[in-house]
Amino acid sequence: MKHLLTLDDLGADGVREILDLTDTFVEVSERQIPRVPALRGKTVAWLFYEDSTRTRLSFETAAKRLSADTLNFSVSSSSVKKGESLRDTVETVSAMGVDAMVVRHSSAGAPHRIAGWTDASVINAGDGRHAHPTQALLDCFTLRSNLQSFEGRHIAIVGDIKHSRVARSDVRAFTMLGAEVTLVAPQTLLPPCLDGWPVKVSHDLDSVLPTVDALYLLRMQKERMTEALIPSLREYSAGYGLDLARAAQLPQHAVVLHPGPMNRGVEITGEVADLPRTVVLDQVRNGIAVRMAVLYLLLGSGVDLTTTGAQ
Ligand code: NCD
Repeated sequence: MKHLLTLDDLGADGVREILDLTDTFVEVSERQIPRVPALRGKTVAWLFYEDSTRTRLSFETAAKRLSADTLNFSVSSSSVKKGESLRDTVETVSAMGVDAMVVRHSSAGAPHRIAGWTDASVINAGDGRHAHPTQALLDCFTLRSNLQSFEGRHIAIVGDIKHSRVARSDVRAFTMLGAEVTLVAPQTLLPPCLDGWPVKVSHDLDSVLPTVDALYLLRMQKERMTEALIPSLREYSAGYGLDLARAAQLPQHAVVLHPGPMNRGVEITGEVADLPRTVVLDQVRNGIAVRMAVLYLLLGSGVDLTTTGAQ
């Protein structure tokens, strides 16, 4: 596999392979010196045309733990501000001899275009509302750690599905692995057409809560909204926000996930965000190991992982 643009590049077997490989990198991350020389001599560049905290730090940490060199490119302080086109920027970075580009862009399909302009591997770190494959992989890894299997499990994804690349990749991943998915949102926050989505839909969070093994909450993605889709955030929280009373309706074993950044008080209250069943920080921790697995699979397959990177 050369690129990771969507989960379809992996398929169900590829997703399982990454999850198994991630176990190895969780073990590496727990070593006293959490570093292996697997990608020594390889260079990974970041092209982040949209804001990011978790995804970017996570990829950087993953690349460092694999001993790769990294090229940091920040749009706000680059020639993009002087009007350089995406293609020229990509060709410039490519000419510096990079092995992989990790791309985040507000336009759906940008990583796909970029893959046509460079010999480097391209990893999609989120494109518009289209896809965010490594987020879905880390969500699957976190769910697998908590629920053991996906077969017969019920996962509800709640909130602004319409604008969410995370929801699109998660639906693909969770159903690929055998789980049932219900989307829970007001009609205005659902995509206008759900043909071909293997999901159920509900507008009533309270009736769904007792039936789930996991609840996946989404942020209201105001930066992608061009019109008012809900009467007010208060009204949204009253219908779809997870507070302590609602969390108490979840089965005891059920976990709560969120890709971050959380808007406490909107989709989740502060108290629920801090409950032990809310595994947001596990998602963050697992994200590093998952991205190590992805980078290793694309750039370093075959390199022995038993030696230490310490020197
Ligand atoms: C998400 C994103 O940027 O797609 N965040 C993330 O990568 N962890 C979700 C969001 O912005 O709400």
